[in-house]
Amino acid sequence: MNKEALILAEISGGGFRSGEEISSKLGITRSAVWKHIAKLRQCGYMIEARPHEGYKLVSKPDKLLPVEITPRLETRTVGRRIVHFDSVDSTTRAARDLIDAGAAEGTVVIAESQTAGRGRLGKNWITRSGSAIAISVILYPDLPPSGMSVLSLATATAAARAIRKTTGIEPNLKWPNDIYFRGGKLGGVLVEISAELDRVRWVIDSIGINVNDDFRGTELEGEAISLREATGERVQRLDLLLALLGELDRLWKVMGDDRSMDRYRDEFEALDMLQGCEVSISMPGGSITGRAEGIDREGRLVVRSADGSISSVFSGEATLAP
Ligand code: BTN
Repeated sequence: MNKEALILAEISGGGFRSGEEISSKLGITRSAVWKHIAKLRQCGYMIEARPHEGYKLVSKPDKLLPVEITPRLETRTVGRRIVHFDSVDSTTRAARDLIDAGAAEGTVVIAESQTAGRGRLGKNWITRSGSAIAISVILYPDLPPSGMSVLSLATATAAARAIRKTTGIEPNLKWPNDIYFRGGKLGGVLVEISAELDRVRWVIDSIGINVNDDFRGTELEGEAISLREATGERVQRLDLLLALLGELDRLWKVMGDDRSMDRYRDEFEALDMLQGCEVSISMPGGSITGRAEGIDREGRLVVRSADGSISSVFSGEATLAP
């Protein structure tokens, strides 16, 4: 654990803790303690300092800081390194720079706000300061590019699990990457890859979840929904993030043993909002209409057309037919 996390633990008990006690417990000088306290203050922690008494934590910022995450993280790979931005154009874009700089597998990029967040199919993704979860995870899988649709669906299922565990609500999933609740979009998954014909070089597995946003009176009212709007109370972003990183770590382990959708399929289908519905799927080469009949083990959407023929769709945008 890093020194700032250890100092936070020392001064979080409600009373004052002297610089001398902290320095001898952590084996660092008192001036090093002071420097770490100054750094924590820069991050938004309010720390009272009194001569002869020491330091006391007064309040914490509502941020997803590594110093809060790392001590509570129980993952093997995901979250090995955490890069936090108060504001960045897009965590997906920032992850790309980190890959070029040799970032390790499991590196997680987190932003409090994004100025040019990206959604699927060239759409924008808005992340306002401190209200959402916007993360990207860097992975180097030993998978063919065709395995990536499984990763996208399994990630959405893992995110739904984390939401259920943290808030008790049961979201719906819409193939291939959307998380919904009562008809409003709660979040989404974006998987970007670099690949040769038969081998993936890197993957950036990104997730956005609307947590404490208030969409009333905005251009997204009626279209988007947040967990706060769904549950009627503020949700602790840190708890949700920890649950999410735990689920992604488990998912990553599963993908190492079994590259199919087998271990996520039943759960995906139980949450699948297209199941049994008439849908229209637009794809680069055209569109098809029919009844959605779940997904296959490769994560393709199974669609039965009016003439009874079955198609398995690899990627596209699904809308419910009127
Ligand atoms: C979608 O539903 O279209 C996908 C949305 C993905 C949004 C996330 S937020 C974190 C990461 N950074 C981005 O710029 N986009 C993804």
